[in-house]
Amino acid sequence: MVNILHIDSSPRGERSHSRELSKEFVSGWRAAHPEDAIVYRDLGHYPVPHVDETWIAAAFSPPETHTPELTEALRISDQLIDEFLAADRYVFGVPMYNFNIPSTFKAYIDQIVRANRTFAVDAQGFRGLVEGKKAVIITARGGDFSPTSPAAPYDFQEPYLRTIFGFIGLTDIQFINANSLNAGDARTQSLLEARAAIQDAIAQW
Ligand SMILES: Cc1cc2nc3c(=O)[nH]c(=O)nc-3n(C[C@H](O)[C@H](O)[C@H](O)COP(=O)(O)O)c2cc1C
Repeated sequence: MVNILHIDSSPRGERSHSRELSKEFVSGWRAAHPEDAIVYRDLGHYPVPHVDETWIAAAFSPPETHTPELTEALRISDQLIDEFLAADRYVFGVPMYNFNIPSTFKAYIDQIVRANRTFAVDAQGFRGLVEGKKAVIITARGGDFSPTSPAAPYDFQEPYLRTIFGFIGLTDIQFINANSLNAGDARTQSLLEARAAIQDAIAQW
């Protein structure tokens, strides 16, 4: 049995393409693997808090020195990291906002990228602690950021997500990028291609 963590981060509901596509992946996966456990988190509608000064003081001090206030400051982060580490695989639906990810997804990343929980620092430098897991990240973009597009260099979404998840050790990531969703004619074709990529990914994941 595989444990899957499915996260959406669009603030939109029914009109969200990233939600629709991540749901399609998870529904298809569930149909093929009914024994697997899927945990769902909706960052778009239920954002997690930003880190604050107390959080930082707690995260960068030894747990045995923590006052009740510092312990409390990390409570949500601890829960999110426990949930993250309990999963073997991840399915993320992520809109492109201003060439990058929505702030709700960034706030989540800030909560789960934590020293001694998801990465370690030693004499050799930084080392990711999230090992042996894999992810499918489905992005939704209004414009075309495909590799041959003139706008490709403006895609800070996929490179950023590869970098930050790679930093904590999660390097096996497949991206399914739905481009051109604000362009009437191209949108239909783009969604068709994303759906085909989802079916392929389900078969091969
Ligand atoms: C605040 C905001 C910023 C956006 N920035 C970009 C952008 O930089 N590049 C782009 O191609 N589309 C951009 N879009 C369009 C979205 O990426 C597109 O509508 C996508 O479908 C949103 O995901 P969703 O359908 O899951 O909500 C932006 C939309 C919003 C609301």
